[in-house]
Amino acid sequence: MTDKMTRRQWLTATTAVAGGLMFANSGTAQSLTIEGYKPTKENPIHFSSNENPYGISRAARNAMIKSFDVAHLYGGSGRRELTELIAGIEQVPAENILVTSGSAEILHTLALIVGIEGGSILAPDPTFDNNFMKYADRMGINKIRVPVAKDMSIDLEALRAAYTDDVSIIYLCNPNNPVPTVMHAEELTKFCLEMSKKCYVFIDEAYYEYVTDPKYKTMVPLAVANENIIVTRTTSKIHGFAGVRVGFGFGSKNILKKIKDKITGTVSTISIHGAIASYKDKETQKFVLRKNQQSLDILYEMFEKHNLKYIKSNSNFTYFDTGIQVNEFSKRMLQHGVKVGRQFQPFTTWCRISTSKPEDTRYLVEVYEKEFT
Ligand SMILES: Cc1ncc(COP(=O)(O)O)c(C=O)c1O
Repeated sequence: MTDKMTRRQWLTATTAVAGGLMFANSGTAQSLTIEGYKPTKENPIHFSSNENPYGISRAARNAMIKSFDVAHLYGGSGRRELTELIAGIEQVPAENILVTSGSAEILHTLALIVGIEGGSILAPDPTFDNNFMKYADRMGINKIRVPVAKDMSIDLEALRAAYTDDVSIIYLCNPNNPVPTVMHAEELTKFCLEMSKKCYVFIDEAYYEYVTDPKYKTMVPLAVANENIIVTRTTSKIHGFAGVRVGFGFGSKNILKKIKDKITGTVSTISIHGAIASYKDKETQKFVLRKNQQSLDILYEMFEKHNLKYIKSNSNFTYFDTGIQVNEFSKRMLQHGVKVGRQFQPFTTWCRISTSKPEDTRYLVEVYEKEFT
């Protein structure tokens, strides 16, 4: 401590800095609904990472605070309860569920298993290029990419045709990301049953809760009843737990054991207790879905008004053709404190916009119209 600053002054200064940082980084701070907040390039509103703008529910926060009482203990307090809760919701046995530190932990571990066992990955193009695909790159795993169909939906026929004996795993996001299309239950079930006789089939259902297409169905029951099919889910989206880290794997006991044997992380007691409360809090989930739809409708209106090509969403994000390179588009939006999604190959002019609160989405529309029309 310098002699120019008393201990009291130093404490006040560091508290102010900490307070400032908390505001700048806080998930709820980047919204026009927060008094005093101004979107800036440095502290923009997030339309970029498919996060939930409402954050963790009050019930989950309270449960997490209460769990501090047991957070000093080893032993996975609440883990059994969470697994059984999910088993009840999904109507599958608890032994077919694995609780992990976000679904990314399973995505990474599956890439690790493929790296160890050998073989290639078969996946649509584009699809979610983080976690599983990125880890696979780091492992030096060969990828066979199959372009999406003309309507940008995943082309199961083309994936079938692209299969070779070297393929060890097929990675399918349903809904897909960055294109928020879905594969329908009938075709996907047939595909999973057929292809899982030859390799692993991995269905990533990160956005499952947002789907409105009536022909969509989860593949969880199929994964539980068959070998070689794995489904993942996450609390990161509808539950707002992206920074809390709880995910789930569903599959046969054999495949889950294989994954468990390679996993290195654990889930914190605090996260687990938060997840239990969040899954029980159906009202907040309904609220998030309602707000998500309102924000999507605001974006659709903008797309229609300006004749922009776009994909109707089954998720908490949409995808539209900006008409210019996305990197240029996002730079100009960021000048106004609006952070949009990154570029995904091969659609370099298309941009992924995550839903934020409707109030913030209206601001995005204002910025778009000011900057581009
Ligand atoms: C398709 C998909 N799968 C998995 C993840 C990772 O989710 P988690 O936060 O559970 O690790 C994401 C995150 O955005 C995603 O979009």
